[in-house]
Amino acid sequence: MPKDADLPLRYDTPPAWATAVLREPLALLNDHAHLEKKAATNALELLNRWPEPNPPENWVTAMTAVARDEVEHLAVVSRLLARRGGRLTKSHANPYASELHKLVRKGRGSEELVDRLMISSLIEARSCERFRLLGDAVVDDDRELQKLYRGLWASEHGHYLSFIQLAEQILPSTAVEKRWSQMLDAEAKIIQSQPPGPRMHSGV
Ligand SMILES: [Fe+2]
Ligand SMILES: [Fe+2]
Repeated sequence: MPKDADLPLRYDTPPAWATAVLREPLALLNDHAHLEKKAATNALELLNRWPEPNPPENWVTAMTAVARDEVEHLAVVSRLLARRGGRLTKSHANPYASELHKLVRKGRGSEELVDRLMISSLIEARSCERFRLLGDAVVDDDRELQKLYRGLWASEHGHYLSFIQLAEQILPSTAVEKRWSQMLDAEAKIIQSQPPGPRMHSGV
């Protein structure tokens, strides 16, 4: 399958990444479940941060829709993990997301909010890229896992677009374009500096 031409990412994960992480499918599902939970929480936190005085008209609807999807994903992934004999760990770290969050221009009003939306969008886009690789790399007789990864691609692709489209409603397009380009460069560096391991946002 060709790479995701419709994703803006500036680093392409090699397919060998998927083969490697799928050697520990339960650890990967555990990491994945935690990410879905964090994505749901993040959408609800963003919901609270609507920009005053003129929030985009669809702010609450968009954040609610993302949060609802992520809770649904969490339910599906954690059920699959349990059925396969795994267990959701109590703690979870995502150094990739932590590095991205350091880029937020805190205390800068609309600029801070745009940064938060862009980081959310980047995480969705990267997850989307990796779900495609996983869907292609899963061994053929594991239809369940294949269906999970292929199904999530579309949903996370929709989320990537929702977040970036909200950012475009908050700052003028030139400011959004400039910041987005900086963020895409930063993300490409951050993802490549991650250590390998059975995680959605690991390095190779
Ligand atoms: Fe999700
Ligand atoms: Fe998502």
